[in-house]
Amino acid sequence: LAAWLRYAPLPGAEHRASLPSHIVALNSTTSSPVYIAGQELEKGIEGIFGKQCKVHHGHYGAAGSVVVGTLDEYTKAYGNLTGAPDLTEDGFWLSTKGSTVQILGQNERGALYGAFEYLSMLAQGNLTQVAYASNPSAPIRWTNEWNNLDGSIERGFAGNSIFFADGVIVSNLTRAAEYARLLASIRINAVVVNNVNANASLLTPQNIDGLGRIADAMRPYGVQVGISLLFSSPSSAVQGQTNLTTFDPLDESVIAWWTNVTEQIYERVPDMAGYLVKANSEGQPGPITYNRTLSQGANLFAKALQPYGGIVMFRAFVYNQLNESDWRADRANAAVDFFQPLDGEFDANVVIQIKYGPIDFQVREPTSPLFADIPKSNTAIELQISPEYLGQNCHFVYLPPLWKTVLDFDLRADNTTSLVKDIISGRRFNRSLGGSAGVVNVGTNDTWLGSHLAMSNLYAYGRLAWNPSDDPTMMLQDWVRLTFGLDSSVIDTITQMSLESWPAYENYSGNLGIQTLIDILYTHFGPNPQSQDGNGWGQWTRADGETIGMDRTMSNGTGFSGQYPSEVASMFENIATTPDNLLLWFHHVNYTHVLKSGATVIQDFYDQHFAGADTAQTFVSMWESLQGKIDEERWNDQLFRQVFQAGHSIVWRDAITNFYHNLSGIPDEANRVGNH
Ligand code: GCU
Repeated sequence: LAAWLRYAPLPGAEHRASLPSHIVALNSTTSSPVYIAGQELEKGIEGIFGKQCKVHHGHYGAAGSVVVGTLDEYTKAYGNLTGAPDLTEDGFWLSTKGSTVQILGQNERGALYGAFEYLSMLAQGNLTQVAYASNPSAPIRWTNEWNNLDGSIERGFAGNSIFFADGVIVSNLTRAAEYARLLASIRINAVVVNNVNANASLLTPQNIDGLGRIADAMRPYGVQVGISLLFSSPSSAVQGQTNLTTFDPLDESVIAWWTNVTEQIYERVPDMAGYLVKANSEGQPGPITYNRTLSQGANLFAKALQPYGGIVMFRAFVYNQLNESDWRADRANAAVDFFQPLDGEFDANVVIQIKYGPIDFQVREPTSPLFADIPKSNTAIELQISPEYLGQNCHFVYLPPLWKTVLDFDLRADNTTSLVKDIISGRRFNRSLGGSAGVVNVGTNDTWLGSHLAMSNLYAYGRLAWNPSDDPTMMLQDWVRLTFGLDSSVIDTITQMSLESWPAYENYSGNLGIQTLIDILYTHFGPNPQSQDGNGWGQWTRADGETIGMDRTMSNGTGFSGQYPSEVASMFENIATTPDNLLLWFHHVNYTHVLKSGATVIQDFYDQHFAGADTAQTFVSMWESLQGKIDEERWNDQLFRQVFQAGHSIVWRDAITNFYHNLSGIPDEANRVGNH
């Protein structure tokens, strides 16, 4: 349960002398993040070094103390800080000079972030002197929890909801507060608690009060609550609310309905973060149902939220079922087709929430072109910590290297450097709002995500939301030290497994940009290459006896490559400049097409599937080598998963290689595939 906040005892009690002896938390209200910061510092220093510090509230001698509070609180208590740091919202200043430590937030939340930063240093045995300010890259650092009111979780792999059961909010919200604590330590500032496929009954007076209880539980950690809305709620007979016959976003009664419900919510949750809306997507109702635009739909909520400072996260994941017999049909085109014409029409408090790729959390996708195509709109990236298509935490995949391919991608809008991370921060197009939404889907399982190693993904998500230029290996190693201790063989082994994990999964599932080749119809788990084609979902491979891949060129295909700014468009348009790992995403080729690597497409399929499965076998012995170096319980639990993954990677390997061997009739040069 403690995840990376264990405060496990560190060897080196000799450090105790250089630690503070007093904690001054400049706020005595027990529900304030600064008060919580004081408690955390007390607990952490005691856990890590066995040293008990006394906590004071209000003015106390700063020398030999760790003082935590907002910059304003500090100035009031001690006078002006020399060399006062430049802090933006949620930022903090951390200065450690032996036993004298200052942790000062731009706001209360920032002060708590600073306290966790200091504790992270201590827990890693780092007692160096530092003095720096840290500010977030973007204001929106949210998680999305796809929790249903009945307590189940869509694409969750760790038990039931910590928020809901039987249609209402659970009475014991201890886990919600514990989750908020974890999130505060990685600087996440809001959680959307219910599924994007939302249920209108969240808006009953009883459930609005329940949301208030969730918000009360999380607020001391600086975590705000947001909710997903069902667009048709006004006509969904919500108990305790008026029932209309329409949900047309331009209808006066509908506008009044949402204004009224929003007012009820803010009465109970004055700091509600905002609404997340999935509209006209995968069967969900939306403005298009009434021939209104998506922007009219988004602005309906924006206007209701505006007086309270709330924001609308409006999802760009909108597409229709398509017919595969149409060579030019392409689900990947949908988001830009829907949203680009609306650029400039969204209210200032609307943020377009864009999945990293144009399809759906696949093992590799090109960066969504939409980030470049709506410069007059606020944008946020949607990442998935809950690895729906990447092994559901029965396989281990460390995701930040995948996320970085998107965050660091240069879309070259107007032939100018246009990194995705600078677009979502608002910097590139001068937007005041933007950031990240991570689909986490924690559950009641003690590990939160279903597997101990998977928590590195949540930890890293927070780090990247704060600073997308942070290094995936460094953050991973911080996480390992905090989670498993300082043994260098533990750090090295988990680092190696983590960095090899995404390439391995890509290799034994779907390589060359063909998508994950998972079962897309039912489970999103395990190989099912034939499930991609012959249906309306538009995740086609167009594989036949001779050829494979989606032609997404402008010259002969779906035109998707033309959704990128011109420099990127011409890179993907041209087969010679398309990287091998996205070849089949953009081009339809013969199995015998020769890659830049020198192999043919089909031979590369065979080779990479064997290589990926081979790598997964080595994870078992690597993990076994850690026996005795981490506790038996966590070691056993993860070993079980690595053994499963090793076996399942062979299932993957054989299913995919045999499928394409049967289809193409082309033998494997190394003679591993088919009946011999
Ligand atoms: C995926 C996922 C669904 C989810 C949808 C979404 O398709 O499988 O469960 O509802 O994405 O993001 O809205």
